[in-house]
Formats: sequence, structure tokens, C-alpha cells
Amino acid sequence: MEYNFDSLIDRRSTNSVKWSRYPQDVLPMWVADMDFPAPEPILRALRQAVDHGVFGYDWPREPLYKTVAVRMEKLYGWQIEPEMVVAVPGLVSGFNVAAGAVCDAGTGILMQPPVYFPFLSVHENQQLVRQLAPLKKHSRGDSLRYEIDWEIFEGAVHSNGARTRMCLLCQPHNPTGQIYSQSDLLCIAEKCRQEEIIICSDEIHNELLLGSVDYAPLASHSPGIAAYTITLVAPSKTFNIAGLFCGFAIIPDRELRKKFEKQMHCMTLHVNGLGLIAAQAAMSGECDDWLDELRIYLTANRDFAVQFIHDKLPGIRTTLPDATYLLWLDCSELVRAGQIEGSPHLFFLEKARVALNDGADFGPGGEDFVRLNFGCPRATLAEALNRMEKILN
Ligand SMILES: Cc1ncc(COP(=O)(O)O)c(C=O)c1O
Repeated sequence: MEYNFDSLIDRRSTNSVKWSRYPQDVLPMWVADMDFPAPEPILRALRQAVDHGVFGYDWPREPLYKTVAVRMEKLYGWQIEPEMVVAVPGLVSGFNVAAGAVCDAGTGILMQPPVYFPFLSVHENQQLVRQLAPLKKHSRGDSLRYEIDWEIFEGAVHSNGARTRMCLLCQPHNPTGQIYSQSDLLCIAEKCRQEEIIICSDEIHNELLLGSVDYAPLASHSPGIAAYTITLVAPSKTFNIAGLFCGFAIIPDRELRKKFEKQMHCMTLHVNGLGLIAAQAAMSGECDDWLDELRIYLTANRDFAVQFIHDKLPGIRTTLPDATYLLWLDCSELVRAGQIEGSPHLFFLEKARVALNDGADFGPGGEDFVRLNFGCPRATLAEALNRMEKILN
């Protein structure tokens, strides 16, 4: 390995949300960023900008959009034009803008919980009606998979007295880490086409693939699907530059793109200049050897954690994510047995001094779950799991 992902870097002295929320003795395994420095080409580009020293107003220019287009073609054979790309200050902003642009007040927005928690409040931000199509959990031994229940999905469309205008998809899915099969994606797309529903597909975890899995953006499956899809991508998770807040909406349909841009304008949203510079370096391909090694490291972290849970944390079931650095842990058996009292999140926080995300925040189906972030040096991961084992045994 050329890159060292084992170094422990002190983040407590920074403004890091992950590292400054809880007391010193708590090990933070929650917020989805990694404890690794960004790859050198990004740091070099940022240093150059800092050395230049002038931080006036910046905006995204054609070469950056071209870089995004070239990357989509290189990774997925998906041909898009640079003009189809719109820079956004993060993907949470991106899907809120998309909902505001597409949905009239009182119409419906559909999503599949348990899901990344900011999805669950888009309806409040944009005066919409939330429509939930929960994923179905399947447990096999101590492992977990999720599937789409089509009856539930269809039942959620136009539910709660509102016409569904947008399906907000999370692919690869957070918190399960699963990649939907091609047939599932095509089925979602077809149902949305029939009901005239625009899809906003949040694909922020698209490049954090573990092991040898296949992945392609939903919109890359056909120009017909791309015409009613807003695809959100970003270098932020992949290259650990989330704090620089720069992502992209890919919107092939001109009218849809215009609406999106108008909404961005109304909300006076701008991407910060250093984010643009970092995104250019990140998506240029210069960091891809780093990314190859990162994926190997994360895959080994995933396998280490899953094996540990299997061997030493009986009663906890876990997903085996295809992508992301997140494990979704089902503690319901231990809650039922009285081994964990109250919320697993509070139990591990207070007793084991490990901060995990509270599954309840991810909507229905997340109760009695916690989410563990394994985007960290192996030693940190081992320490967290050891603390959890100690407290349970
Ligand atoms: C599915 C998903 N979308 C969006 C985000 C955050 O996006 P941003 O920081 O660009 O707003 C995350 C972060 O964990 C995520 O998992």
C-alpha cells in the first residue's frame, strides 16, 4: 500500500462536528466523514489557492463541469454534456432545491426509510406531503438485507391525500449501504414514468464501492429515464472533503434544469471557492490511485467489523454494505432480552463511551438500530468494537 490509512490524526482540536460534540472520553463513530486526510492532489490545489491569497467571489466554470461530465463517461459510460451539470453547495441543499423546484406546495414526496435523516424533513422545508415506502428487512442468521416491497411502494404513491411529484431515491442507500439491483431501479423508474413523478437520485456514495460490486447511476440506464431524473453526485464522501460543500446536480432535461437553477437563485445558494478547487482536483482522476487503496482499506474494515460482530457481539445483526463506510446494526434482540435498556444509541454512548448514530433518526424501521461509521483507522474501529463488547459481556 502506498497510502497510510492507519495513522491516527487528532481532530479534537478542530471544529469537527464528529469529534467535538461529545466529551473527550467518547469515541465518535457517528457523522459520515472519515478520519483520513484528503489525497495529496486536492491538498496541493488548495495550498496553491491559499498561497494565492485572494478570496473574492468565485463561481463554477465550464472546465469543472467538463471534468464532471468526463468522469461520468469514464466511470459509467454515461454521456452527458457539461451544460447539464449544476454546482450545488452540498447534496442536502441539492435535494431540497430539487424538491422546491419540482413540487408545488401540498404535493407529495416519496422516500424509502430507514433513510438518511435529512430526507425526512424535506417536506417540512418545502411545504410538501411526505409519503413513506419503507424498505422490508430480511434477517438471515446475524446478517441483514433490505428489499423493496412493491405493494408498499405502490401504496405510498399518491398516499396521504397528495399527488406524488418527486421520488427521492438514495442509491447507494444510506444507512443500509446497499446498491439497488438494476431490475429494481428500472422498476422504480418505470413506475415513476407512468405516474409522472420526477426522480431525484442522491448518489453521493457512488464511488465508495466495497469489494467487487457493480454500480451505475440510475439515469445512465437510458436517456428516457435521464429525462425525468435529477442525479446528485459529489466528491465529498469519496475524497473526504465534505466540509468544503461542493456537489453537482446532473439534469439532462433543459426545462427541469432551468427550474432547478431558478430555485437555486431564489434561495441565494452559492458554492464556496475552495470547494470548487477541491472538486476539480478530486474528479480529475489524479486521486484515483488513492481511491483504489481507500476502497481496499474500507472493504477490510467492513469485513473486520462484520466478523467481530459475528464472533463477539451475539444478538446484534448487521448489514454487509456494498458501498459506503456505514454499518447498520440491529440491536432489537438485545433490547427485547433486556440486555440493552432503552435506546441502543444512549446505551452505547453512556456505558461504552462510543458515539453511534441513533437509528430512530432514520425514520420508521430505525428504532433499536444504531449506525456505525467505519471510515477510520483500523485501530479506532477495533477500540470502538472492543468497548461495545466489554459493555455487553
Ligand atoms: C445520502 C446522503 N446524501 C447527502 C449527504 C450529505 O451531503 P452534503 O454534505 O453534501 O450536504 C450524506 C451524508 O452523509 C448522505 O449520506
